[in-house]
Amino acid sequence: MRDIEVRSGALENLDVDLIAVPAPGVLTGPSAILDGWLGGVIDRCLEQGVYRGKADETSFFPSPPGHPHVLLVGVGTADDEPPTDSQMRGAAGVAVRFCREHRLSSLAFLLPEAAAGAESVQAAAEGLMLGDFSYDALRVQETRCHRPAPSQALIWSEEAAPGAEAAASSGQTIADAQNFARDLVSRPGNVVTPIRLAEEAEALGERGIAVQAWSAEKLREEGFGALLAVSKGSEEPPRFILLEHRGDGGSPIVLVGKGITFDSGGISLKPSKGMEEMKYDMAGAAAVLGAIRALADLGAPRRVIALIPTAENLPSGNAVKPGDVIRGVSGRSIEIVNTDAEGRLVLSDALSYATRLGPSAIVDVATLTGGCVVALGRHAAGLMSNDNELARGLEEASARSGERVWRLPLWPEYRKQLDSDIADIKNSGGREASPITAGTFLKEFVENVPWAHLDIAGTAWADEARAHQPKGATGAGVRLLVEWVRGAR
Ligand code: BES
Ligand code: MN
Ligand code: ZN
Repeated sequence: MRDIEVRSGALENLDVDLIAVPAPGVLTGPSAILDGWLGGVIDRCLEQGVYRGKADETSFFPSPPGHPHVLLVGVGTADDEPPTDSQMRGAAGVAVRFCREHRLSSLAFLLPEAAAGAESVQAAAEGLMLGDFSYDALRVQETRCHRPAPSQALIWSEEAAPGAEAAASSGQTIADAQNFARDLVSRPGNVVTPIRLAEEAEALGERGIAVQAWSAEKLREEGFGALLAVSKGSEEPPRFILLEHRGDGGSPIVLVGKGITFDSGGISLKPSKGMEEMKYDMAGAAAVLGAIRALADLGAPRRVIALIPTAENLPSGNAVKPGDVIRGVSGRSIEIVNTDAEGRLVLSDALSYATRLGPSAIVDVATLTGGCVVALGRHAAGLMSNDNELARGLEEASARSGERVWRLPLWPEYRKQLDSDIADIKNSGGREASPITAGTFLKEFVENVPWAHLDIAGTAWADEARAHQPKGATGAGVRLLVEWVRGAR
């Protein structure tokens, strides 16, 4: 999609294929004007309950003479309540997906008067970009473009809000970075290997981000025994990717993303059913790449470092085995009782390394446990932290970004589940409270630095399309991290 424009003034002058309006179950400002064009059809629909304004509900009215088509999009609010930013983002996404489905090439999204401020404009711009995403790089030419994206989108409100242009532009930058993350996560394991992921990171150098990628040899020198252990079973060599957005300097915020480009489980092999989905086990890496990309594009003042330990987890004659004891950057010994608990291993090296950078806070993002999907489903990321203020900051960013998080405890009692008979710690605490024992494992490696862990195993992948979210990779974490860093002191 080209740049999203912001417009105000007379509705008559909008030269687009479709006008979409988030609408409750009664006529309001803009929908009343559209109803005039349509000779009262909308009013009759409302009266008869044909359209009720439920979330994601749509009603289409073919173009009245001399005007664009009209689409009502439900948001699920009460009749007298303005839509929230989240609902606005969702409705804009629904409108764009409708355009794609029906090959309409331009649209205007109308903001209701009660929700036309800069935040609403940003949310609408995000929704327009996010609903537009599809991954079809691997399809053959003839089928690739069978549903072209709308080429023009504008956001209309009766009166121009102060800062609307800047808000639309930020929204576009952030959503663009989220779509970049979705694109990476969508790619199969044979397309995104650790080396290819490092190349994608290196390409961010063009945006003024400093990038390095350490190879296996450097990892051996630096003592990254945990990352190396996980990658041993694969022919694909591991990488440790380091990115820095310098901002105005000062102590950095460090973001860490799990980059397992495919997780078979290793010798503790996963069942084959659904294993193909484990290409999304690098979604944490994609989230931090997207976040640092957006922060650089926005010229954020905060100094940010992103660290990505990346490897492929496969079984082979050379793979790490259950019972093996290894030692990583921290120097602690780790008994690997389950090779499928690989994420926390690669993260432990990255977290230990992160503590040496003098960070003001560390936030890691990872598709870490199936137990988190069981607990929270696809609707919220698990949040764990050793610092209440940091956790609160993330909860506030969650509200602003519309990306839900839910805090889980890290009480000391859970540590017992990780006691090893032979080493300092073991890498799995079994089934009980598995998201929490995974968080407890990570906590061992952050020393006393304020740290938070986001388990995005559920939120990184959508089983079905909804609102601004097409089926598949979600780009979870990007908006949340960007909002958090922008608001962090
Ligand atoms: N990548 C998986 C977690 C996962 C599961 C992500 C489902 C997305 C959807 C992780 O590496 C894993 O296998 N975790 C194990 C840990 C267990 C062996 C302690 C799990 O959750 O089953
Ligand atoms: Mn695993
Ligand atoms: Zn994994």
